Amino acid sequence: MSQTQFTPRVFSGIQPSGGLTLGNYLGAIKRFVDMQGPEFETIYCMVDLHAITVWQNPADLTRNTRELCAGFIAAGIDPEQSVLINQSQVPEHAQLGWVFNCVARMGWMKRMTQFKDKAGKNAENASLGLFGYPALMAADILVYHATHVPVGEDQKQHLELTRDIAAKFNHDYGVDFFPMTEPVIEGAATRVMSLRDGSKKMSKSDPSDMARINMTDDADAIAKKIRKAKTDPDALPSEAEGLENRPEARNLVNIYAALNDQTVDEVLRDVGGKQFGEFKPMLADLAVAKLSPISGEMARLMDDPAEIDRILSRGSQRAREITAPILKRTYEIVGMVAPVEV
Ligand code: TYM
Repeated sequence: MSQTQFTPRVFSGIQPSGGLTLGNYLGAIKRFVDMQGPEFETIYCMVDLHAITVWQNPADLTRNTRELCAGFIAAGIDPEQSVLINQSQVPEHAQLGWVFNCVARMGWMKRMTQFKDKAGKNAENASLGLFGYPALMAADILVYHATHVPVGEDQKQHLELTRDIAAKFNHDYGVDFFPMTEPVIEGAATRVMSLRDGSKKMSKSDPSDMARINMTDDADAIAKKIRKAKTDPDALPSEAEGLENRPEARNLVNIYAALNDQTVDEVLRDVGGKQFGEFKPMLADLAVAKLSPISGEMARLMDDPAEIDRILSRGSQRAREITAPILKRTYEIVGMVAPVEV
């Protein structure tokens, strides 16, 4: 079968299920900004349908969706250049999601480690949506025929599933319709760890607020959290190999490198030999310098929620120009009777 050429197109999403963390910023949003440009069409999404796989207070969901949109824009996503949407306004995501529920196999879904982590011991009480979540995620991506998906390390398995779903659909229906999406998991901070425990991911759901930096934290909070971050007693090494078996040290150096657009080796060339007592204030200053303009701009944008709603509505109109024909063709391939003039 001849290989179809797909338009270079980037899609990624974030759940509006709470505040944004430094992990979301460095692992995802900052990378989204980097990928804007002439090389790709870029589509970025607030995945509100994914968020309700666990309980969301309705008023909080509305606010968090707008705040996430403000975060995207404040960090440098240009709503003219990129398409910014909330998932529920583009119904083709959920429609293709259903088709993919019928393509994905139970065995594949049961292997998803995020479901196991999130459902925990109480899997019987988890929503059906939480279990089916990765099939909807595959639909988010493939309903645009997206070719590249920038994400943090924790989404890798879901992107492998997306490729499996695309391949099975193409194989079962004898078509070359859905692309094999490339995960883009790059940079120094693909997995930002908790500030309290270098073996745990920095997460908005961590019970301790000291474990994470929130994008809305003020300068004092950021400095305090970095000052109190767990470390070891040794000085920083001069080369990356010296960070082996030092997860907390590695995490702080990774954060520094990602914030400053440097490699880990470049950072260590400058700070190797320093004690944490000296390095932590440098990191705090850098974090405040990079993050405060973003949080300031987020707050300013949140003063005008009607403008955010207009941006999302306009984004979904543009998105549907791409998604409607792809869903229509999917239904034709599957054999659904299409509407006719009556
Ligand atoms: P979510 O909302 O949990 O996280 C959004 C993005 O932030 C990244 N991330 C991190 N990166 C580095 N270090 C961390 N500590 C960290 N925490 C979060 C995540 O890897 C992700 O890129 N299933 C997705 C949302 C989604 C999606 C999609 C993503 C739905 N449909 C389609 C891409 C394409 C999620 O729950 O991300």
